[in-house]
Amino acid sequence: MRSGQIIYPFEPWTVTESSFDTETNQRDETVFAVGNGYIGIRGNFEEGYDGPPGTSLHGTYLNGFYDSSPIAYPKARHYGHPRVHQTMLNVTDGKLVELYVDGEKFNLFSERIGEYSRRLDMRKGTVIRTQVWETATGKKLRIRIERFASFARKHLAAIRYEVTPLNFSGEILLASSVDGRVANQAGGGDPRAGSAFNGQVLQTKEAYEHRTFGALLQSTSMTNFALLCGVEHALSHAYELETAAGDQWIEKRFRVQAEENGTVVLDKFIAYYTSRDNPEEKLLQLATDELEAALTAGYAELAAAQQAFLDEYWKSADILVQGDAELQQALRFNAYHLLQSVGRDGRTNIGAKGITGEGYDGHYFWDTETYMLPYFLYVQPDIAKQLLKFRHYILPKARERAREMGEAGALYAWRTIGGEETSAYPSASTAQIHINADICYALKKYVEATGDKPFLYEEGADILFETSRYFAGAGAWIEGRGFCFTGVTGPDEYTTVVDNNAYTNLMIKDQLEYAAQVAAALREERPERWAALVAAMGISEEEVARWSEAAAGIYIHRQNGLIGQDDSFLNKPVWDFTATPEENYPLMMHYHSLRINRHQVLKQADLVMAMYTQSPRFATWEKQRNYNYYEPLTTHDSSLSTCIHGIIGAELGYMDKAYGFFQQTARVDLDDYHLNVKDGIHTASMAGSRLMIVDGFAGMRQVDGELQFAPDIPAQWTSYAFNLRFAGSMLSVQVTKDHTVYRLAEGEPLTICHLGNRVEIEGEVTLPNRALEAVIFDLDGVLTDTAEFHYEAWLELANELGIPFDKAYNENLKGVDRRTSLEFLLQRSDRRYSEVEKERFMQRKNERYRELIHRIRPEHLLPGIGELLEELKARDIRMAVASASRNAAAILASLGITGYFDEIVDAGMLERGKPDPEIFLRAAEALGVPPRNCLGIEDASSGVEAIRCANMVAIGIGDPGTLINAHRVFSSTRKLNLAILSDSYHLAAN
Ligand code: G6P
Ligand code: MG
Repeated sequence: MRSGQIIYPFEPWTVTESSFDTETNQRDETVFAVGNGYIGIRGNFEEGYDGPPGTSLHGTYLNGFYDSSPIAYPKARHYGHPRVHQTMLNVTDGKLVELYVDGEKFNLFSERIGEYSRRLDMRKGTVIRTQVWETATGKKLRIRIERFASFARKHLAAIRYEVTPLNFSGEILLASSVDGRVANQAGGGDPRAGSAFNGQVLQTKEAYEHRTFGALLQSTSMTNFALLCGVEHALSHAYELETAAGDQWIEKRFRVQAEENGTVVLDKFIAYYTSRDNPEEKLLQLATDELEAALTAGYAELAAAQQAFLDEYWKSADILVQGDAELQQALRFNAYHLLQSVGRDGRTNIGAKGITGEGYDGHYFWDTETYMLPYFLYVQPDIAKQLLKFRHYILPKARERAREMGEAGALYAWRTIGGEETSAYPSASTAQIHINADICYALKKYVEATGDKPFLYEEGADILFETSRYFAGAGAWIEGRGFCFTGVTGPDEYTTVVDNNAYTNLMIKDQLEYAAQVAAALREERPERWAALVAAMGISEEEVARWSEAAAGIYIHRQNGLIGQDDSFLNKPVWDFTATPEENYPLMMHYHSLRINRHQVLKQADLVMAMYTQSPRFATWEKQRNYNYYEPLTTHDSSLSTCIHGIIGAELGYMDKAYGFFQQTARVDLDDYHLNVKDGIHTASMAGSRLMIVDGFAGMRQVDGELQFAPDIPAQWTSYAFNLRFAGSMLSVQVTKDHTVYRLAEGEPLTICHLGNRVEIEGEVTLPNRALEAVIFDLDGVLTDTAEFHYEAWLELANELGIPFDKAYNENLKGVDRRTSLEFLLQRSDRRYSEVEKERFMQRKNERYRELIHRIRPEHLLPGIGELLEELKARDIRMAVASASRNAAAILASLGITGYFDEIVDAGMLERGKPDPEIFLRAAEALGVPPRNCLGIEDASSGVEAIRCANMVAIGIGDPGTLINAHRVFSSTRKLNLAILSDSYHLAAN
């Protein structure tokens, strides 16, 4: 956690500030920005700003509207490095309105301002500012200003400016203008801020004005895009109109006779049209028509349409959290700003900072497909589709880029607006080839969730096949490894240009498998389209077969029971976190990238990200072990990090940690965690806050077109609820401490999976979040007492070797595999033995042990076990054996109880023995029961430890003093029965 502090009071549907402060103004301008996915207007004041320099960024932006500027390389430009930047432009300012009384201008910097407040209303979709101003001559006026960018009308924004004289009647002057003198702000050294231009880029070409109408036509310098901004006005009172104009501005002055306590209303409508969507010569007419329509409709009707649009949005976007006002507000704020930021026309996308500021130059990244698109997919699937359409729209640029890189197919730009790669830092951009796979991941998710095959077969297939072709060419078969991707960068930008980044490789594997499936389906279902693709891109069955081979052969580096983030990561020194003071984060601002790269240290989720996007490809024990390894190495210096860690943390049962991550994710912007909200919102982490609830706490995964849930709730909450759209239906999910209620809110019944059980939702279904479904038994010391035989066998060996050994020391060997047991024994010897000798010792011990266990008969079952097994079987509780012994199966057979067990975990398969939870997690996985619904019984402390780490309920048999971590300890198995186990389970689980 960096520097988060509470800034705005917690209100359910609004965000309010009640004072105005130049120090924080720039941040507030972001928070109170209005947008509609196309037009984005920062929370600048209509009257302008007279504060100290550097405390305001006066900006209006149009999604996807940019200019280029040459990138200045210190030496010659390297081959393939981009020539030009793309920077989202600060455009023609249409929002200016000044108020004059007796020649004095209303200004927040005047000493006589009272009752100031500004409020974002997320249901109405407006920002409202009110204040009382007293002029130098003692005239008092209430001023209320409301504005919005219309969700219903892409090209339109509106301002309602109300002035009420409180102690006088007389003339007021409202001066409304459109101003072309705008420029982007310079970056100021932070690579996350915009790099921008020096000075004005937009050239004013024409000015038009007629009565209350005014417009400027401007054009960009390098890209030659034209932009028209027009304004129109409506007044509640009669007025005298005057027009003033300069080279690059037009001002309409309305002189009105105001009455004491009567409100003068000026409605201003602002329209933006550009040549990105329409021919330049049509822009004026389009804007005029739009403004005419707005005048006809009137402000009230437009405002009503705004609210209606939001009513529809909130149906699926709203999340209710009971018992957490702070996060409730944050969730809505995030959902609201996401809608304000997202392009919905298939030509524009969603920037990392939305359209609220100049951070990251307004660029689009992989954030879209891995965070924002999955957000919209279940809220407004059609928006998800538009985002994919954008990728299709820029596919030609991705093809060009692949050519430039010397490859076939298509490679998407890491950061772009128009489609071209614009990053001059290839190791953390072009090297992130996973962007191709991220796009296909989103495509697959979209198609599965909506069933939109027409889109898949038309536009989707182009994206999927071209990027697959790129991967097939860019990867290489390497002897002894498999299909490899060398020289790439994964999501973690603190580790660049490495071989076989696991995230990248797994994502590509998934994509290539999908591409082969889609190709087969397409040949079958739409032969004419397949034929067209054969003709257009020369795709063939052989090529598709190569994709399948590559997918099957993808290499993943494993070392010491861990998955390597890449081939070399685990062999690097670990970053010295203890020597890194808090103020040196984010590391990239304080250490050279080469120094960071040399170490094991992460900026953001990388392998953990793969556990999320490729969830079914990891066993739970693998997720747990690797999460526990990588999470402590992660700085979360990227705002994309905490939500993913929260999601996987919740999956693994680390609810407190997950909750902490959630808090940081959800209020990144409202509490300004990274102290850069002034540059714009963080759209990925905003989307991440919903993902954390739905995919994290409710554990939703979409696997092979099915929604699976594993709901849980943070201890801090009493309940939470959300809706989601899936397969044309809408599902309501409400989670309380003990239960989850699924309700079909709209559409056809849905089949979902709740904690491993398939359920059809038609009407309402209530299911428990926890239930005892499986018991996992240790063998030695729980089902039977072989501990004695193990002891005898080890004792004989110890005696031969002259090593002291007794019952007390034998405790250490319980539950521990043969190899580790021997090491324990040899610890007490002065001699060192060779590998060959050790093998011999183990063999001898085992031979002796096998002789001893010949004596085992059914009557050697420990007391009460026979009855317990019967009882559990009768109640359909599933059973497994998790024993470190390789002789387990033989012993169960001798005991005559093999038939009770659905699974016996093969101790030979284990990468790590107890106390590692692997063995218990493998047992649960084999049973198909989530760990939280399992209870484990153990007699050794290492085993109890393993059960606890596996997030299961642990019952100990033996001495409570030794088995301190067990939820409950019994002195003998005699005490065990179903009632006792259920009881213990429910006590422990709550
Ligand atoms: C069980 C016993 C241990 C034993 C281990 C390996 O966990 O409690 O004492 O070392 O199994 O048994 P094995 O039969 O494979 O040598
Ligand atoms: Mg045991």
